[in-house]
Amino acid sequence: MNVLVLGSGGREHALSWKIAQSKNIDQLFIAPGNPGTASLGTNVAMGVNDFDAIADFVRLNRINCVVIGPEDPLVNGLTDFLRNTSGGKDLIIVGPSKAGAALEGSKDVAKAFMARHNIPTAKYQTFTAQTLEAGYAFLETLQPPYVLKADGLAAGKGVLIIDNLPEAKTELKNMLVNAKFGNASAQVVIEEFLDGIEFSVFALTDGKYFVVLPEAKDYKRIGEGDKGLNTGGMGAISPVPFVDEKLMDKVRSQIIEPTIKGFEIENIDYQGFVFFGLIKVGDNPLVIEYNVRMGDPETEVVMPRIESDILDLFALMHKKELNTANITFSNKTATTVMVVSGGYPESYKKGMEITGLENVEGCTVFHAGTAMANEKLVTSGGRVMAFTSLGDNKEKALEQSYSAIDKIDFTGMNYRMDIGFDL
Ligand code: AMP
Ligand code: GLY
Repeated sequence: MNVLVLGSGGREHALSWKIAQSKNIDQLFIAPGNPGTASLGTNVAMGVNDFDAIADFVRLNRINCVVIGPEDPLVNGLTDFLRNTSGGKDLIIVGPSKAGAALEGSKDVAKAFMARHNIPTAKYQTFTAQTLEAGYAFLETLQPPYVLKADGLAAGKGVLIIDNLPEAKTELKNMLVNAKFGNASAQVVIEEFLDGIEFSVFALTDGKYFVVLPEAKDYKRIGEGDKGLNTGGMGAISPVPFVDEKLMDKVRSQIIEPTIKGFEIENIDYQGFVFFGLIKVGDNPLVIEYNVRMGDPETEVVMPRIESDILDLFALMHKKELNTANITFSNKTATTVMVVSGGYPESYKKGMEITGLENVEGCTVFHAGTAMANEKLVTSGGRVMAFTSLGDNKEKALEQSYSAIDKIDFTGMNYRMDIGFDL
């Protein structure tokens, strides 16, 4: 198979790494990719939202399978576009239609979908600038803290959790009237605060059947002990010790099955990954959010635990035969630790030379924000590289990730020393 992976982060490097191991791979292209993916296939200078260029590339290079890494092109309708322009029905596209991607593109769409299918989630209401007063009144009926969510995509920044009522009202107005998150906050979902522990579950679905992939827990805050600003993710672990069989049975029957059934009932064309952002409250799982793609850095721990050939799974997905998939996982624990630029998630410098990578062993390094400059590897983003290890337990895996990180250096380098501290 000729495969095109779209995206340029650690997630796409990990997906490409897994695809490159398939017995079915012929040519692997990554657009735009990064210096890490360049060692697995051919990087192509093409943006993930450049639909025409992607469609031409798919035709010219006889691509059989397109894997869409990030949410943006999905929400913008790339899957529908490719289906109509290149490859027709034979092209395997990993990533849902625009209608499916709206589950991530609009929090209101996601909440309404969950309500229609009785999927457990926080109570909510949605408001616009015209219904600001009703929004204030709804806030008054809730207990603090108050959860305000911009309806649309806001690069992971659109959720505010606020301790007191006056400030919550002010922020609601900022979002609705003063466009705090631009058009993304033209609608705001206000929801009940859920107190529990979060985890992520992933499924690959063909729209009718699904396989559940290894679950993971990510660490979003910049600081140790889960303190400080939110980031794209500072590390992840899989499996998650508190996610036992009993909890997974509930996730499956109360959340995954009704979600996939919902796609069928509502005729939503969905082939690809579903990322269930979950929270365990007492003994029960609830949905915090849906994402319509894999997580980053969760992919960097999920892919290494999948033993099955991923292109076989994608082919079964395309044929709507995932019920026949025989997927196996490693029992080992996978950990990933993200090395970031000093200052991130606020402003940081780029172009710092990264040294010592040749000395790393016993660890897989997935590139996220790196670039080549004058034949040197340099930083080019906030999250720079993810250090993934597999071990008999989380302590052993983490030890490998951390001793690998000790071998590398760049000016301003930062990472969390306490990934997995709460498990
Ligand atoms: P989201 O973008 O919906 O995943 O929200 C970002 C983060 O805000 C989540 O990962 C949670 O930590 C937190 N969060 C969102 N909704 C709630 C809620 N209803 N109760 C408690 N925390 C929440
Ligand atoms: N790690 C969270 C996400 O990918 O959205």
